Amino acid sequence: MTQPQTVDVPLEDRSYKIHIGSGLIEQLGTLCAPFIADRHVVIISDEKVASHYLPKVESALESVTSRGNSLVVDEGETSKSLDTCYQLWQEMIELPADRKSVVVALGGGVIGDLAGFVAAGFARGIDFIQIPTSLLAQVDSSVGGKTGVNLPQAKNMVGAFWQPKTVVIDIDVLETLDDRNFRAGLAEVIKYGLIMDDALFTRIESSMEAILNREPAIITELIQRCCQCKADVVTEDETETSGRRAILNYGHTIGHAIEAVYGYGEYLHGEAISIGMVAEAEMAKALGMVDDVFCDRQKAIFESAGLPTTCPAGKEEALIEAMTRDKKVASGKLNFILPTKIGDVESVATPGGEAIAAALKACS
Ligand SMILES: NC(=O)c1ccc[n+]([C@@H]2O[C@H](COP(=O)([O-])OP(=O)(O)OC[C@H]3O[C@@H](n4cnc5c(N)ncnc54)[C@H](O)[C@@H]3O)[C@@H](O)[C@H]2O)c1
Repeated sequence: MTQPQTVDVPLEDRSYKIHIGSGLIEQLGTLCAPFIADRHVVIISDEKVASHYLPKVESALESVTSRGNSLVVDEGETSKSLDTCYQLWQEMIELPADRKSVVVALGGGVIGDLAGFVAAGFARGIDFIQIPTSLLAQVDSSVGGKTGVNLPQAKNMVGAFWQPKTVVIDIDVLETLDDRNFRAGLAEVIKYGLIMDDALFTRIESSMEAILNREPAIITELIQRCCQCKADVVTEDETETSGRRAILNYGHTIGHAIEAVYGYGEYLHGEAISIGMVAEAEMAKALGMVDDVFCDRQKAIFESAGLPTTCPAGKEEALIEAMTRDKKVASGKLNFILPTKIGDVESVATPGGEAIAAALKACS
C-alpha cells in the first residue's frame, strides 16, 4: 500500500491542500469536514462516474452533513456548455441551494471545469471541492482554479478563476477508467516533464510499462509530481498575468484548434494536445529552438504511451482560423509556448507563416 501524499497550493486566503492516495473516498468525511460541517452539499457528476462512485461519495459525506443533493449530467465534453450550466443553476435554485451550499465536483476534467464554473457563478460564488476521477483531472485540471465552459466556436471561452477548497485524489478510481482516457491523461503527465521537469520526463520514459499497468506506486508518484509542478506554477502566476502560467499551454494552441475543428469529443483533450505538442515542437524546430533529436524523443514517448501524433490532412485552413479565435490571442498576437530542451519552454509571439506551416504539416 502506497503512503498518502499531500501537496500544498499556497495562495494566501485561497490556499488549499491536495490529498493523493488509495482509499481516500472512504475518508472524505474527515478530509472535507472543515469545508462542509453541516452545510448543504450539491454533488455534480456525470452519468458514468456517478454509476461507479456517487453512492460511495454520498455515504462518505453523510458523516459531515445531513443535507445533500446530487445532480448528474451526460458524460463527455458536450456537457461543458452554457446550456448545461444554466440547467444546473436552475436545478440548484429548485433544491434549494443557497450562498452557504458547497459544490462537490465528482468526475473528470469536464465535471471539474463545469461544476467549478457553476460554483463560481451561483450566488456570486460559492465554495467547491474537487474529487477528480480521470487521470487527466488528477494530474492537472482539478488544480489551479481554472473553471469554465466551451462556446461552439472556441474551447474554454467562458470561465472564471475559482479555486477549490480542497482536492481529494483517490487513485483507486482509476481502476474503472478506460484505456483510451487513461492514455489521454498521460499526455498531460508527459507535458509536465517537457515543460519543467526533465527528471520526470526520464522517469516516464523508463517506467512506461509500469505506468500502463497502472501500478499504484508509480501512479501516485506521477500524480504527486504533476500536482507539485502545477501548484508551483499557479502559486507564481495564479491568473496568468505574469506569463509563467502560460507554459502549461504547450501543445494547447494547436490542440484546442484540433478539438474545435474536428468537433468536441472526436479527439479526447489529451489526444489533441499530444498531436499539438508534436506539431508545436516542429514549429520550434523550424525556428531553430530544438533539433531532430528532441522532436524524435518527444514523438517516441507519445507513441509508447499509445497516443496519436497526427490527424487527417485537409483541415489546415480551419485549424489556422480556429487558432486565431483561441482565447490565448491577446491584442491580435497569437503566442505559442515552444520547447527549447526537455524540461524547458519559452513563449514566442506570432511565429512566422513558415513555422506555422511546418507545424501543420507535422499534424497530418
Ligand atoms: N481546468 C484546467 O486547468 C484544465 C486543464 C486541462 C484540461 N481541462 C479540461 O478537462 C477536460 C478533459 O478532462 P477529462 O479527460 O477528464 O474528460 P472527462 O471529464 O470527459 O472524462 C473522460 C471520460 O472518462 C469518464 N470517467 C472519468 N473518471 C472515470 C472513472 N474513474 N471511471 C470510469 N470512467 C471515468 C468520464 O465519464 C468521461 O466519459 C477538457 O474539457 C479540458 O479542457 C481543464
